[in-house]
Amino acid sequence: MLARAGIDRSQKNTTMDTPANVDKKTDTDKRILLQIQGLKRSYRTETVSVDALRGLDLEISRGEFVAIMGASGSGKSTLMNILGCLDRPTEGEFLLAGQLVSSMSRDQLAKVRNQTIGFVFQNFHLLPRTTALENVELPLLYSPDKPAWKELHNRAKEALAIVGLADRATHTPSELSGGQQQRVAIARALVTRPSILLADEPTGNLDSRTGLEIIGLFQQLNRDGLTIVMVTHEPDIARFARRVIVMRDGLIRSDRNIPPRDAADALANWRDEDDDHDDPLALMPPGTA
Ligand SMILES: Nc1ncnc2c1ncn2[C@@H]1O[C@H](COP(=O)(O)OP(=O)(O)OP(=O)(O)O)[C@@H](O)[C@H]1O
Ligand SMILES: [Mg+2]
Repeated sequence: MLARAGIDRSQKNTTMDTPANVDKKTDTDKRILLQIQGLKRSYRTETVSVDALRGLDLEISRGEFVAIMGASGSGKSTLMNILGCLDRPTEGEFLLAGQLVSSMSRDQLAKVRNQTIGFVFQNFHLLPRTTALENVELPLLYSPDKPAWKELHNRAKEALAIVGLADRATHTPSELSGGQQQRVAIARALVTRPSILLADEPTGNLDSRTGLEIIGLFQQLNRDGLTIVMVTHEPDIARFARRVIVMRDGLIRSDRNIPPRDAADALANWRDEDDDHDDPLALMPPGTA
C-alpha cells in the first residue's frame, strides 16, 4: 500500500538493510514500474537551448493513479514523452519494469512501447476515414507479436466493449462525439494490454461532464489493476487521482498522496448547473436573456 494520504513522499526511507528488509526491498522492486533518476532533457537548436527537465527523480509503483500538474512549459509533456518511450533523455536513467530503457536504441524503444505502454492524447489522434474498430486494431497490426487475424479482431472488439463502445465499432471518428472519440483512443491504448496508461491532458478537449465520464473510466481501469499517469491542468480532475505531482521549471515541486474523489459519485450527484459555463445564456447578465 502507498504512504498514507497527505504524507510528503519526498522524505527518504532510512531503514537499515537487515536480511528481512532486503527481502522486502526485492518485493518493493517488483512493485516499482517506473523509476527515473537524474533525468534531464534539453532541447538545443542553433539559436536556442531549453532545459525542459533539469534532474528529476521519480518512482511509480504498479497500480498507482498519478496526476501530474504544473504551469504551461514546466515540462509535463516532455516527461510523459520520455515515460512513454516516445523520446529519450539527454541525461539520467529510466527503468521501466526493470529494463533500462534510457540507453535503448529507437527500435528497442518502439518494441517496449508497443508491449508495455498505452498512450492517450488530448486531441485523440484517430485516423479520420477509418472505423473505430480499425483504429483500435492498429497497434496490434504493428505489434512485434502480431496475433492471428481473428484474435486481433476479437481483441479490438473486446477493448471497445471495455470503454462502452461495442455498438459504435463501424463508426468513423467524425460520426462520434468528442467523448466517444477519446474512448476509442483509450481502447486503442488498451488493446495491447499495456502495464501502464499514459494520458497527456485526456480531458482537455472535453466538456466537464464528459471529462468526468472519462475519469470514471480511468478509475475503473485503475481499480482493475492498470497503472495510470495523467497530465491535467484542472485541479478538479486531479482530485480523482490517488497521487498528485506538481512540476515547476523542469523539476518536481511537490508529490503527495491524496484521498481520491469517486467519479461515479460525482456523476451521480451531477447537476447541470455545474456546467453553466457551457450554457451561453448563463454568461449573459441577469435580465438580458
Ligand atoms: N521540440 C522542442 N524544441 C524546443 N523546445 C521545446 C520542445 N518541446 C518542448 N520544448 C520546451 O520545453 C519546455 C517544456 O515543454 P513541455 O511541452 O514539456 O511543457 P508542458 O508542461 O507540457 O506545457 P503545457 O502545459 O503547455 O502542455 C518548454 O519551455 C517548451 O518550450
Ligand atoms: Mg504539455
